Amino acid sequence: MFETLKEPSPDAILGLVKMYREDPREAKIDLGVGVYKDATGLTPVMRAVKAAEQRIWEVQDSKVYTSLAGDPAFADAMVSLVLDDAVPRNTVAAIATPGGTGAIRQAFELIQNINKDARVFVSDPTWPNHLSILSYLGIEAVSYRYFDNETRGVDFDGMMQDLKAARKGDVILLHGCCHNPTGANLNSAEWDAVIKLLQDSGATPMIDIAYQGFGDGLEADATATRKLVAAVPEALVAASCSKNFGIYRERTGILMAVSKNTDAQSLHQASLAFLNRQNFSFPPDHGSRIVTTIMDDDDLRQDWMAEVEAVRLGMLGLRTQLAAELQRLSGSDRFGFIAQHRGMFSRIGTTPDKVEALRVEHGIYMVGDSRMNIAGLNAQTVPILAQAIVDVGV
Ligand code: LMR
Repeated sequence: MFETLKEPSPDAILGLVKMYREDPREAKIDLGVGVYKDATGLTPVMRAVKAAEQRIWEVQDSKVYTSLAGDPAFADAMVSLVLDDAVPRNTVAAIATPGGTGAIRQAFELIQNINKDARVFVSDPTWPNHLSILSYLGIEAVSYRYFDNETRGVDFDGMMQDLKAARKGDVILLHGCCHNPTGANLNSAEWDAVIKLLQDSGATPMIDIAYQGFGDGLEADATATRKLVAAVPEALVAASCSKNFGIYRERTGILMAVSKNTDAQSLHQASLAFLNRQNFSFPPDHGSRIVTTIMDDDDLRQDWMAEVEAVRLGMLGLRTQLAAELQRLSGSDRFGFIAQHRGMFSRIGTTPDKVEALRVEHGIYMVGDSRMNIAGLNAQTVPILAQAIVDVGV
């Protein structure tokens, strides 16, 4: 039976990790996968995470199952972190999932279970795995214009025109902050217009928020999500703890289904828990317990927030340095967008052959669509990257 298996399409982001590891050159720079690296190139365990793990080790006396939805305290902590008090807690059904990707997968399956003809509107471009999972599940993905390759900002008029095709029963997938892969984000007035469009069309919003804290700060990055869930009758929110808690391999995420229909809240909660049971039964617990331990302790939470803020400011500093260096070397302001983008990524908006030239000639790895991970840089590698970008003629 296995002989009928076909080679799966390679994952563009994960394929780069392998190529980078196999490159024997000393002077190589990894700007591929979205993983935070400090100035020395390491992805450290955050201080609060270490402290929380120690506490868990000391007090945990059983590894018995939690519940299908995960530990309820984790859901409370995450609803509070992402949504704060935008909506009453009893309007949110939530399940812990294996990472943000797990939350996205569960959300798509839920959508399909509810409406087998649902279409999911996705930004062009979006995180490639959104498209891959949709296609795997046989859900129709409809692209809406998003990135303007000239300005390297959002093509907001194009986006709104394309979203007019969405109707009740469809889902519009939005990135809550720090758009992946472009780094170009909606401003507050644009979010208001999207909310109005959702209200008028009756389409359901789904927010993917995987980088809260890496753009304009933990609170600012959640503002649009909070405003949106408060303004529409129903919404899905998939959040990840991989990046802002730095617990990538623990697979910690959450799917929230917000509905103003509080009478149906227990049905929504049961439906989500059932989905977990069908796919993997109980969600992983260790990462979510770390998050809850941090969020429920004032000292740990303050320390974690300070570390996230330092990470954010470090990335902003690298953006400013790179934009200035490119301005100096190219004598033009056309790279100013790098300082305007927010989050871990910027799409520099160049062709695949120039991305390849950066890799082959300069040992600089970025995703083929010209997405670079800003956190893969440091003060010493910024000038090297800037020179290489100018040399290959971006
Ligand atoms: C990324 O976009 O690089 C991350 O979300 C990692 C991944 O799984 O693709």
